[in-house]
Amino acid sequence: MNGLSLRVPSPLEELNDERASRNGVRLFLKRDDLIHPELVGNKWRKLRLNLAAAREQGHTRLLTFGGAYSNHIAAMAAAGHHFGLDTVGVIRGEPHVPLNDVLAFAAGRGMELTYLDRSTYRRKTDAEVLDRFRAEFGDFYLVPEGGSNALAVQGCAEVPAEIAIEFDAICCACGTGGTLAGIAGGLLANQRAVGFSALKGGDFLAGDVERLQREAFGVASSNWTVRTEFHFGGFAKRPRELDAFIDDFEARHGLRLEWVYVAKMMYGVFALIERGFFARGERIVAVVTGASQSFEP
Ligand SMILES: Cc1ncc(COP(=O)(O)O)c(C=O)c1O
Repeated sequence: MNGLSLRVPSPLEELNDERASRNGVRLFLKRDDLIHPELVGNKWRKLRLNLAAAREQGHTRLLTFGGAYSNHIAAMAAAGHHFGLDTVGVIRGEPHVPLNDVLAFAAGRGMELTYLDRSTYRRKTDAEVLDRFRAEFGDFYLVPEGGSNALAVQGCAEVPAEIAIEFDAICCACGTGGTLAGIAGGLLANQRAVGFSALKGGDFLAGDVERLQREAFGVASSNWTVRTEFHFGGFAKRPRELDAFIDDFEARHGLRLEWVYVAKMMYGVFALIERGFFARGERIVAVVTGASQSFEP
């Protein structure tokens, strides 16, 4: 169903870093950031099966929700453009005039933008609110805010099978927990997943990951954990220490990490390596779920 060139399976690269080698572990990057410039990383993983379902169900229009700086909104607009589906983006809050970069990109990819005041936005999936959208835009396939539904989780479960080496642990950043839920669901019996919350107060994530796994697979697995201490002050908070880490990582490896999610995960991975969280001899894969040039946050 696609006329666009996607780099799937995405490449796996070993990271030669003395912080790993001196602790006796090997570290690999799963470069999902290279899948496609507009359908980056976990965005493509989450959308793939939803696009197929929308088509199968005869829909010609996708509708989703997001904040004015949402990468998910941009990815949905790009997906609609590349796969020949109309898209509607319901944006939280007041209209932005002029459009910021994310919304200008989305509009440029043909997305129809509409705005919901914050209190109605909280009830955005109530039947009455959705009926209003149906009356205004016509019927649509609904993709939730952040894109995490059962099909998205199933799409993320395809990541581990793409990794051609044996590995022990796989790490990813968490926002809604959908990516972690899926990746953990795709692991072999002797492997485990570690999620890193990009949000402060990420304790809610464990419950959400469990729920998403039940929705996607019928059962929740016990092969994952969520680390909540590497949020750097909260979602989209960017203290100097984080920038210093990103600069240092780029100087060592020539890759600039996306700062809202990926850099916080990678910082956490090294911190856990230094703390002996991973046993000597283990192989760890860190999933690069976003690219630094995508819209931030
Ligand atoms: C680059 C990046 N990595 C990780 C995540 C977290 O994904 P999830 O919401 O599935 O936990 C997001 C959020 O959408 C993201 O944009």
